Amino acid sequence: MTTTEPNTAGRAIDPTSAVDHGTGAGDFAHEPTTVLITGANRGIGLTTARRLGELGWRVLLGARDAGRGEAAAADLAAAGLDVSALTLDVTSQDSVLAAVERVRAHHDHLDVLINNAGVLGATGDPARTIAADFIAPYGVNVLGPVRVTQAFLPLLRAARRPRVVMVSSSLGSITVTSDPQRMEHTTQELVYTSSKAALNMMTTQYARAIEQVQFNLVDPGYTETDMSPQGTQTVMEGTDAIVAAAQVGPGVTGTFTDRFGVVPW
Ligand SMILES: NC(=O)c1ccc[n+]([C@@H]2O[C@H](COP(=O)([O-])OP(=O)(O)OC[C@H]3O[C@@H](n4cnc5c(N)ncnc54)[C@H](OP(=O)(O)O)[C@@H]3O)[C@@H](O)[C@H]2O)c1
Repeated sequence: MTTTEPNTAGRAIDPTSAVDHGTGAGDFAHEPTTVLITGANRGIGLTTARRLGELGWRVLLGARDAGRGEAAAADLAAAGLDVSALTLDVTSQDSVLAAVERVRAHHDHLDVLINNAGVLGATGDPARTIAADFIAPYGVNVLGPVRVTQAFLPLLRAARRPRVVMVSSSLGSITVTSDPQRMEHTTQELVYTSSKAALNMMTTQYARAIEQVQFNLVDPGYTETDMSPQGTQTVMEGTDAIVAAAQVGPGVTGTFTDRFGVVPW
């Protein structure tokens, strides 16, 4: 697959605009905001954990591998941040339910859930893609956010103003990928693109169905991580939209943004 650089020149916005609060002041008086980030032991998830920790938030650093999660959380905790590891494999119902119980043992609510864990999967010529190619990537990118969101809904509903951030991609936008002016247009691939398009639809459905929770989608942009070693943005830039969406003001739900503004569907 040719993963491509979004054509975003000249669209810069302040990623902290429309932000409700930028300090550690929590959604409950005298309590920090509690956030769970899936797939946070490296890449975009790890930098998101650090940035939200630096705001004074209490960060639950999700990782499917306990050792990798503990190591990443220990690094951030050593820097004085309130970060603890939470073992959570988004493809395993048992793992997710065990994570819910561990969170419930220490917290009576969850303010923000960031469904960040994702995989590229095998990519290639659509004409040669077979049905089996979809199974593993869909398990992480599509079923994972459903499994985690559904399991954590009771803790989210116990928060004063719960928010869910879904980490999508401009490669899941039919408008962007159909536009010959956009670099994403050169990507011809079935699995990853359609998994993020499915995530987009699921999220707008959640947003309309569950009014108590704010559900928003973000595109990090083409970011240099293990997933995209040729990415043209720094991982700091790649987390701007997530950090903003985690702090979005009351009433904002069902949106799709990147660090420059609105992403078309
Ligand atoms: N990088 C980009 O250019 C870009 C652009 C648009 C969207 N995105 C999206 O941004 C998100 C983060 O991507 P990234 O670039 O940071 O990728 P990355 O560096 O490859 O990191 C992916 C993270 O997801 C975790 N993960 C994978 N499968 C998991 C599972 N079953 N359960 C729990 N965690 C799992 C990985 O854990 P392990 O370390 O255990 O493998 C890792 O922590 C993804 O949703 C991706 O689709 C990225």
